[in-house]
Amino acid sequence: MRIPFIAGNWKMFKTKMEALEFADEFKKLYGDTDVKTAICAPFTALETLVEAFRDTNIGVGAQNVHFEEEGAFTGEISVSMLKEIGVDYCIVGHSERREYFGETDETVNLKLKKLLRDSDIIPILCVGENLAQREAGKEQDIVINQLTADFAGLTHEEAAKVVIAYEPIWAIGTGKTATPEQAEEMCALIRNTVEKLYDEDTCDKVIIQYGGSVKPENATEIMNMDEIDGALVGGASLIPSKFIEIINF
Ligand code: 13P
Repeated sequence: MRIPFIAGNWKMFKTKMEALEFADEFKKLYGDTDVKTAICAPFTALETLVEAFRDTNIGVGAQNVHFEEEGAFTGEISVSMLKEIGVDYCIVGHSERREYFGETDETVNLKLKKLLRDSDIIPILCVGENLAQREAGKEQDIVINQLTADFAGLTHEEAAKVVIAYEPIWAIGTGKTATPEQAEEMCALIRNTVEKLYDEDTCDKVIIQYGGSVKPENATEIMNMDEIDGALVGGASLIPSKFIEIINF
């Protein structure tokens, strides 16, 4: 049985102080829920959030990590550094990192291996097509190719731990959501691809999220789809009352 998992991706929003204010308000609103929750915040707010959520089951995630243990990589953060702070999750291969910061399937693959082999931090792997690729009818090929390259060399046990977020780039921050049917079709394709790369047992375990303009108004119909186990929420995760509404879909 897969437990629903709804994570926020704050992107480059919120200082430490703002993160603390969010956490105080969010904890007050956070009731009993069977949904797993996490906030993926900027590096500078991670320690503050781990501390603020210590006595709760709200997880904390980073948005990126480097694949080397240590070295001359100015501006980068290692898996050991995240481990020491106590983060639970790390987003890998978000489309904004692929588009603006040169992230490739090769570096995504190295990051997944590093996280899975040297820590208990759960990777949240983002895949998805852009508008031109969707309009050309290439979305399935794009996502299959991304998954195949990103998972290269991972064992069955490692693959089963990865959370996969299907994020069509044309639906991110645009207010344009994929229809629940479009999202379901792609999440089913992702599960099917994991089955082909591994086996039925592995694909049954993998948590698949949808991401792209998820908000309180559309969370229920998205979360009710069979192959969608959760959501990766950008803008709406910045406001405690909105994010809570999504969690209580
Ligand atoms: P929005 O929810 O703001 O569209 O962002 C989605 C996203 O990129 C989550 O990683």
